Amino acid sequence: MAATQSHKKSALVLEVKSKSKDGFETEVEWVPVFQSAAKKKDRAGDSEKKSAKAVENPKGPYQALIGKLADSGAFTGGYKSSQFIRFAGHEGAEHIYLGGCGAASDLTEERARVLGGLAYLKLATEKVRALSIAVDALPGSGKKARLAAAFAEGLVLRAYEFRKYKTKGESESKLEKITFVTADAKAKKELQSTATYLEALLECVQITRDWSNEPSNEGTPEYFAEQCKKIAQANGIKCKILDEKACADEKMRLFLSVGQGSDRESRVVILEYTPKQASKKVKTVALVGKGVTFDTGGISIKPSLKMEDMKHDMTGAATLFGATVLAAKLKANVKIVTVLAFTENMPSGHAIKPGDIVTSRNGKTVEINNTDAEGRLVLADALDLAQDYQPDFMIDAATLTGAVQVALGKYCCGVLGNDDRFIRQLQAIGEETGERMWQLPLFDEYFDDMKSEYADMRNVANDPNGGTIRGAIFLKQFVKKEVKWAHLDIAATAWDMGQFAYYPRRGASGAYVRTVAEFLRSF
Ligand code: BES
Ligand code: MN
Ligand code: ZN
Repeated sequence: MAATQSHKKSALVLEVKSKSKDGFETEVEWVPVFQSAAKKKDRAGDSEKKSAKAVENPKGPYQALIGKLADSGAFTGGYKSSQFIRFAGHEGAEHIYLGGCGAASDLTEERARVLGGLAYLKLATEKVRALSIAVDALPGSGKKARLAAAFAEGLVLRAYEFRKYKTKGESESKLEKITFVTADAKAKKELQSTATYLEALLECVQITRDWSNEPSNEGTPEYFAEQCKKIAQANGIKCKILDEKACADEKMRLFLSVGQGSDRESRVVILEYTPKQASKKVKTVALVGKGVTFDTGGISIKPSLKMEDMKHDMTGAATLFGATVLAAKLKANVKIVTVLAFTENMPSGHAIKPGDIVTSRNGKTVEINNTDAEGRLVLADALDLAQDYQPDFMIDAATLTGAVQVALGKYCCGVLGNDDRFIRQLQAIGEETGERMWQLPLFDEYFDDMKSEYADMRNVANDPNGGTIRGAIFLKQFVKKEVKWAHLDIAATAWDMGQFAYYPRRGASGAYVRTVAEFLRSF
């Protein structure tokens, strides 16, 4: 009956079952509880009458208990409120988690995702091993499967810890199994594919987060290239690794200049996914990721405060790798070419220096005025290489500018590009996934200030304002007009996203893996 087998990487099993007379083996059942919209009316008028209930739940095994709790005023199903009750004494689950959902009409997928994240915390504290989800208690016969899926998604997204380097203690969560319980044949079918999707998602987001959290002494360009090879092979994705010699043959001097101060060798990884039975009309999407395994700033060295965060500077590459593997697992009907450029930005006797001029792969010369604006140098050559594959669409992701957090904070990433319709499409998907994007302008005038006295362009503007736009307009110089291109600046959203209940409190978020994968699945 299980929708999918469990896989090695994650201990969590997801399955779908019908509610049967003999119950279902589970420790805890999640029972959504809805606040009554009539409650307000009740307060205004006949408060003596017991007819206006505080909660509005369909008939179910816990109706009496929920009614009692509501009458007492202790629990009325308010959004994010909850009651964990052991030995609820029903034939089904012994222990229940009553999850306050607010008014049924207000429950969106994003709100359900948040509730999943909150539920995870309680289940972890209570050391719960198995959870079932009472799908049929959710509203809307057409909507309930999607709400249950979003709840589970929030839960699995929150259930992550990076324990690789912990020699003591154990993970906070004991959760091993999630079971969707529904008697509805249609919902059941939908949730079976949800279970498959969530297992793949869990594995891929975990890869992205693990990579991002990896310290740079272990997470070297070579390490990530090897990981790519291994995981690509297991998922039917072609993988080619370019070492420094091969990059030099490709004339990727701008990319190589960033890593020339480091003792560690740079690597470019090219992944190719081709759908089975690809027709001639199948589209090609290029994904290009910034993989700076550590960004000291180089000779334009960064201040030491929080410099350790710069181990995450390869999260663009990690995100697009996760999205590529996820799309492959879900058999997306599109060609994918993913170019990941891994290098380390270090100061040394070999490092590039401010004022150095380097020729890019496409022939344009760049005066490197600030060695800390290295991401755009890495991406310029990688974007050019990716366009050899004649993509219809191209998405790059990069922790490119601190300025994006100044502009937008941590509730969305910055998106810029050359095709508004394409950007709208990505934004719409992000709205669904909860991974929001906000567009910033890309007027050509922003480039005026980046013209160089000595070369074709500078890598930074004289004017320090509009930093995210300057980064993007630099990249635009390397993008062909016929390619629909979107640049995601994920510098603010790549880690420490604890403001969303469904992300880990600290460290890598894994944000935008789902959105990019969903875009790839939209073909
Ligand atoms: N990796 C950084 C951007 C960054 C900063 C990401 C803080 C996350 C948190 C990037 O390479 C960088 O240093 N950008 C410079 C650009 C500037 C020199 C024009 C920046 O943002 O200061
Ligand atoms: Mn930098
Ligand atoms: Zn950087």
